[in-house]
Amino acid sequence: MADERNREREPEPGQKTFYDAFIASRREFDERQSKGQVVIKPSDREYQQTRQGRIMYYLNSQAYKDTPLADWRVFVHDIRTHSGKHRHQGGFVIYVIEGRGYSMVDDERVDWGPGDLLLLPIKPGGVEHQHFNLDEGKPCRWIAFCYLPVFDHVASEFTQMQTSPQYSG
Ligand SMILES: [Fe+2]
Repeated sequence: MADERNREREPEPGQKTFYDAFIASRREFDERQSKGQVVIKPSDREYQQTRQGRIMYYLNSQAYKDTPLADWRVFVHDIRTHSGKHRHQGGFVIYVIEGRGYSMVDDERVDWGPGDLLLLPIKPGGVEHQHFNLDEGKPCRWIAFCYLPVFDHVASEFTQMQTSPQYSG
């Protein structure tokens, strides 16, 4: 009688074992670290109007496979009037590039300007937030840095409460 605990499946000819696939993935990782693009220019990227806002990803693991540091999500948010409102876990660092604005973070208003660093704290249930440009018609941009393993380890979900007024999709 076959013992389920010792079930063994022979790989088909030419088929990799899971072990081989893992070793291959480590080689791909090495390759990406040694040969991946380490300077990413805005001209390599494009903005997308999303339900949260107008966003340009420097790093995004779904979109770009040719960079080292695949575990970071790094993006610029260009706030025309205000962003959508959503909730997710904190652990984000946001650096203000230009413009004056404020964010509503769990109903508390926090104002910011060029050179400021905005932190989204890690809290039970996550942080609800929305971003506003105080000088409509003038550029207002920040860049966010999110390290995905931390995001996973604090079990972050995403819930959209309001969509950006510029979003038509
Ligand atoms: Fe957010």
